[in-house]
Amino acid sequence: MNLNIDPNRLQRQIDDLAALTEAEPPVVTRVLFSDADLRARGFIKNLCADLNLSIREDAIGNLFSRWNGKNAHLPPIATGSHIDAIPNAGRYDGVVGVLGALEAFRALKQAGFEPARSLELIVFTAEEPTRFGIGCLGSRMLAGTLAAERVEGLKDREGLNLDHWRTKAGYPSASTQDLVASIRLPKNCYAGFLELHIEQGPLLERENISIGVVEKIAAPSTLRLQLTGIGGHAGAVLMPDRQDALLAGAEIALAVEAAAKTSGSPDTVGTTGVFRIEPGAVNSIPHRAWLEIDLRDTQVQTRDEALEKIEQAAPQICSRRGIELQIERLNVDQPAICDPHLVENAFESCRDLHVSAKRMISRAYHDSLFMAAICPTTMIFIPCRGGVSHRPDEYSSPEQIAMGVRVLAQTLASLCS
Ligand code: GLV
Ligand code: MN
Ligand code: MN
Repeated sequence: MNLNIDPNRLQRQIDDLAALTEAEPPVVTRVLFSDADLRARGFIKNLCADLNLSIREDAIGNLFSRWNGKNAHLPPIATGSHIDAIPNAGRYDGVVGVLGALEAFRALKQAGFEPARSLELIVFTAEEPTRFGIGCLGSRMLAGTLAAERVEGLKDREGLNLDHWRTKAGYPSASTQDLVASIRLPKNCYAGFLELHIEQGPLLERENISIGVVEKIAAPSTLRLQLTGIGGHAGAVLMPDRQDALLAGAEIALAVEAAAKTSGSPDTVGTTGVFRIEPGAVNSIPHRAWLEIDLRDTQVQTRDEALEKIEQAAPQICSRRGIELQIERLNVDQPAICDPHLVENAFESCRDLHVSAKRMISRAYHDSLFMAAICPTTMIFIPCRGGVSHRPDEYSSPEQIAMGVRVLAQTLASLCS
């Protein structure tokens, strides 16, 4: 099939979407249900309408946009990613898999392709954990892996819950039980799921390879801690009398680093990515600290051992310093193994297109981690400059993106024929 992928149009769309941001451009920040996120959703819906795709949204804002196939009773093939962005992000993470999928659909339509199975774009809600501390909220709920009690307990840093944000965004209020039941999808409701994404690592660029096909996604976990000490005057309270929440947090952050470095696995990575204090005045002892800790590994055993070390260290540090500790596991996930047939399908597309490709592990997590629980799944990676991601200078060239879209389109076509 002769596919006319247009790198310039796609780059214009990526740039237009990047302008919908809470931060000063070129920085992209699009936190779940912020004005920028809502406007970005509108932008995507317009593009879907331009392609005559049907649009459905579930109660948490996962967006499903379908190109009906000739055999509408067969489970569709799905593709997609996310458009939310962490604070101080770039313009490609997630976006390439959404706008790239639409460009693939457009090129297939233009080439006269008529799918036998339906093709569906999914734009997942809140792949990024910024609002509620837990990543892949939309796909977790689609896969039915987040119990109602956990959904009930989701709180942002102001203590606002999911129902608050959902209704503010225009979704009708619902009981958590109804919400969870209405979002969950049955197993094998899709014949397959393919996610196009930037690699977010350096390997493809370093090895000068165009495409990575993902075989496994590393196992993430997140802890949230609240530390309460006693504040006071920075001049008047002598050092032996202090119960400083920040210092306990600092020791915990060092314990995270030590647990990751001594796990015995080079793949264990630990990050204290959130560390806030109150009152935040230079002449006042911090009486409260909030930490969020991200710990991952390709192997569950070493990840879990490191997690337990941190969970043992935190109460010891806090008790020694007279600090009250609340510690919560927000998520502790399994790795995902991708479907060997889909991996082979993606490889075959690369061979047909004479594109270099290699098998890869994804160290970042993705909605594919949860889609893999309900249907055969794999991911197509493209190189990104210097392996940089979650930074404003994240970059993949229009040609690299177009190559990913070509491989995606070819694979979707073969799966839907
Ligand atoms: C996804 O954004 C991740 O943190 O891996
Ligand atoms: Mn991300
Ligand atoms: Mn992403």
